[in-house]
Amino acid sequence: MDILIVGSGGREYSIALALKRDKNVKNIYVAPGNGATSEFATNIDIKDFNKLADFVQENGINLTIVGPEAPLVDGIVDVFKKRDLLIFGSSKNASKLEGSKIYMKNFLSKYKIPTASYIETNSLASAYDFIESLTLPIVIKADGLCAGKGVIIANSKEEAKSTAKDMLSGESFGDAGKSIVIEEFLDGYELSVFAICDGKNYKILPAAQDHKRLLDGDKGPNTGGMGAYAPTPLIDEELYKKIETRVVEPTLEGMQKEGSPYTGVLFIGLMIIDDEPIVLEYNVRFGDPECEVLMPLLKTPASELFYKAADGYLDDLDIEFYDRYAVAVVIASQNYPYKSSTPSEIIIDNPIHKELDGTHISYAGVSREGDKLYATGGRVLLSVGTGGSIQEARDKAYLQCGQIHFAGKQFRQDIAYQVLNR
Ligand code: AMP
Ligand code: GLY
Repeated sequence: MDILIVGSGGREYSIALALKRDKNVKNIYVAPGNGATSEFATNIDIKDFNKLADFVQENGINLTIVGPEAPLVDGIVDVFKKRDLLIFGSSKNASKLEGSKIYMKNFLSKYKIPTASYIETNSLASAYDFIESLTLPIVIKADGLCAGKGVIIANSKEEAKSTAKDMLSGESFGDAGKSIVIEEFLDGYELSVFAICDGKNYKILPAAQDHKRLLDGDKGPNTGGMGAYAPTPLIDEELYKKIETRVVEPTLEGMQKEGSPYTGVLFIGLMIIDDEPIVLEYNVRFGDPECEVLMPLLKTPASELFYKAADGYLDDLDIEFYDRYAVAVVIASQNYPYKSSTPSEIIIDNPIHKELDGTHISYAGVSREGDKLYATGGRVLLSVGTGGSIQEARDKAYLQCGQIHFAGKQFRQDIAYQVLNR
């Protein structure tokens, strides 16, 4: 079959790679793609959803897979479905689970899914009152999409109040911050859990851990994610079961009751406290860099998983994973996450180290000129290692990091530190 992927990052590149090794897939298109997807797929420069649907129809593309949240929140799935085109992703209404923190929190509380206690408000007076009632630190979240920057963890009540004030006045995040969520701080460890959903059935993928801060030891500013590994041994069968019965199933049932059956990837950001899963957030897409470690674990052909999910037949599928681990180290440009950097050529040692079997690069912020690739994005690429243990996968990923060069490259040295020596 022929498949279109919407998006341009490392996440979409890794989905494209999984489809490339899938015998059921003939042609891969990526809209807009990046300088590396064009090596084995066709990049399409069409933004308008109806025009993209025209392209899909004209070229007989069998399935569209949406990577990022923005087109989902903007309703790409609704446009395609209206035209009877098969698409994997959440509807505009269901995407409010990510698009509005207030919708998400109210949904969690309505369906009794465990989450931090909170208020939602657009009033400064009630924000101040609630802040006074909480112990430190205090978490303040802008309602709308803020490219991952809309969550502030305040270490004093003064800081919490001034954060709330700047958000509510529109100063920090414009309209996205004019309503806010204030919630208690949860102290535990975070897991990224993904369920592939078809509206009523779901398949859970191996749990992953991301590394959101820029620097080693979880220091420095928040980023989109500097590395990930999966499966994490920080979860056992009992915890998976709790996550399924207390979070995934009530979410799917709740969304059916809300009249917005959930299809696509349900990304559940969890805090685990005393072996109990508590929902921090939902996203309606794969995590990035989590997707880059999950795709290499997928034994079931990716086309079959996404097609059956989009078509409503996930119950027909026995999902299978390779018995191995994957570790991804993000290599970012010099000024990430503050500002863009001067594009620089990416040079990869040749021959690549022979111990690097089962290792690959997932390209994100890159552009192409002739046969040269340039680092143009913030997160430029990911060095992905796979192996029989986390240590082996990690060693390979880092060995490969040493063979990739561009001016100003930076990466964390401690990806998967949480579980080494276990
Ligand atoms: P969110 O976009 O809601 O996932 O928040 C981004 C990050 O902020 C999360 O990955 C957590 O690291 C942190 N965070 C969000 N809410 C809380 C909370 N209630 N307690 C502790 N940390 C939080
Ligand atoms: N890696 C976290 C995210 O994609 O939101």
